[in-house]
Amino acid sequence: MNVLIVGGSGGIGGAILQALCTDAKVSSIHATYHATTPTFSHHKLSWYELDPCSDSQIKSLLNRVGQLNWCINAVGMLHDAQHGPEKTVQRFDTEFFNINMQVNVTPTLLLAKYINANFKGVAGAVFATVSAKVGSISDNQLGGWVSYRASKAALNMSLKTIAIEWQRKMPNVCVASLHPGTTDTELSKPFQSNVPAEKLFSPAKTASLLIDVIETLTPALSGRFWSWDGSELPW
Ligand SMILES: NC(=O)c1ccc[n+]([C@@H]2O[C@H](COP(=O)([O-])OP(=O)(O)OC[C@H]3O[C@@H](n4cnc5c(N)ncnc54)[C@H](OP(=O)(O)O)[C@@H]3O)[C@@H](O)[C@H]2O)c1
Repeated sequence: MNVLIVGGSGGIGGAILQALCTDAKVSSIHATYHATTPTFSHHKLSWYELDPCSDSQIKSLLNRVGQLNWCINAVGMLHDAQHGPEKTVQRFDTEFFNINMQVNVTPTLLLAKYINANFKGVAGAVFATVSAKVGSISDNQLGGWVSYRASKAALNMSLKTIAIEWQRKMPNVCVASLHPGTTDTELSKPFQSNVPAEKLFSPAKTASLLIDVIETLTPALSGRFWSWDGSELPW
């Protein structure tokens, strides 16, 4: 199996690629980073510097990596140096909203735009993006975090749309949205104080759970939203 992990420099993406390096079924892993230069290396692993929001860079990456069985996008943001997620809509900031939409949505759409040839002739290919349960519209009971929630809802809509378009054009591919559970990474660090210890997963645990979910996917299950435990989430 050949796997592409976009955002391999992140906590969850990095743990997924490390787990796949020791998986005998996997022969090559292509992984990308943006601002964080990776330190992990392995003979199966090739690193690529990439701006995942750049149309031309995604196109050229997919030209380089060749045939793929899985494409996993683990790029995402919840806060940046200037902004945290909004407690209420009074805190809404246009610039922060636009960055959320750009980082959390566009990489998946650009990958989908150019990945056709990489999946050609591959049985049971998987196109998965790490999303978040807070992007579920029907599950939203709390409000808050409007930019992140809206961007993950837009990501989920993008994945559903891609799945429908590919039903006829690329019926060998399962498109999946994945919720990882709260995981101890830079992204969640400022928000971990109220999370019970048993509900805060290590990146390695999350990676193992998400790989288990991906392994159950078939093209017939395309266009769905999965939680880390394999249960289906409502859009
Ligand atoms: N951790 C959680 O509890 C949790 C819960 C639910 C959902 N998620 C989702 O899981 C995914 C992975 O998150 P994580 O926890 O692993 O976070 P993380 O450790 O902060 O990793 C974030 C990844 O996204 C990339 N990235 C962030 N901002 C970027 C930008 N402006 N341009 C390009 N790349 C950018 C980072 O690349 P560089 O560092 O190389 O720039 C890194 O690879 C995200 O989509 C997140 O929303 C996480």
